[in-house]
Amino acid sequence: MSAAGLIKTVFFTLITVGFFFIIWVYNPFAHKEVYELPEEAARIVGDPKAALEGRELFKQSCSSCHSVRYDGVYLMSVEAKPEWQKILKTMGKPILETQDGKVKIKGYYLPRDVYEAVALQDLENLKASFGKVPPDLSTIYLARGPGYLYQFIMDPQKVLPGTSMPKLFFPEYDKEAPQKVAKIVAYLRSVSEPSPSEKAKRLVMGVATVGYFILMGFILWFYRKRVLEKMGIS
Ligand code: HEC
Repeated sequence: MSAAGLIKTVFFTLITVGFFFIIWVYNPFAHKEVYELPEEAARIVGDPKAALEGRELFKQSCSSCHSVRYDGVYLMSVEAKPEWQKILKTMGKPILETQDGKVKIKGYYLPRDVYEAVALQDLENLKASFGKVPPDLSTIYLARGPGYLYQFIMDPQKVLPGTSMPKLFFPEYDKEAPQKVAKIVAYLRSVSEPSPSEKAKRLVMGVATVGYFILMGFILWFYRKRVLEKMGIS
């Protein structure tokens, strides 16, 4: 191999290794989590069973102000409307879940514009009371991460001074409060993440795609070599 070829090879190898090192091993540009997540809470956040309990807790404690549209959870006051079930069934798309091998309808996904038209008065009432519409929390986990959410729900003022979001959990009076908050974070995580079977499917697709490119690369490389040999160039 010529000196120029060697330099080129080393150069491209370094760039490739550097690239994967940064995205897989150490990324200096990544957002650093500065909000502490206690060990016990971290365990709960990763537990799918806790997420199911978290969904019920969310409906009780949070759905008076927040929806999770991706999971078919809407404002309590909207769900109490007499025409609501009919709107869901005619305009919504069923959200399916598998329980004990059976496929069940867990709720309905409603497009944002339809939901906001139906919920207009409710959202305006909330805005009048809190200065802004409490956000839909479908993707909040991806935006904020577990540490922030845990600390924020435990004590909103401490994390976001001046916020109108009320403190709802009081460890002084309720020993279970930290676990409940962790379960709610587990729920928000489960909504923002694809199901385990979907994740497995994506992994297989990813590996197959990368494998295909590597294989094609080799085939083309050999083919090129053979063509060059036939032409008497190599
Ligand atoms: C009484 C109404 C009310 C209830 C109940 C309520 N929230 Fe909120 N929440 C708000 C408002 C208002 C905001 C917007 C605050 C802001 O941006 O200052 C908010 C914002 C948030 C945010 C976004 C914070 C951010 O950084 O943008 C999260 C997450 C959140 N709430 C979670 C929850 C959870 C979980 C519950 C149930 C345990 C809950 N909220 C119950 C009113 C409420």
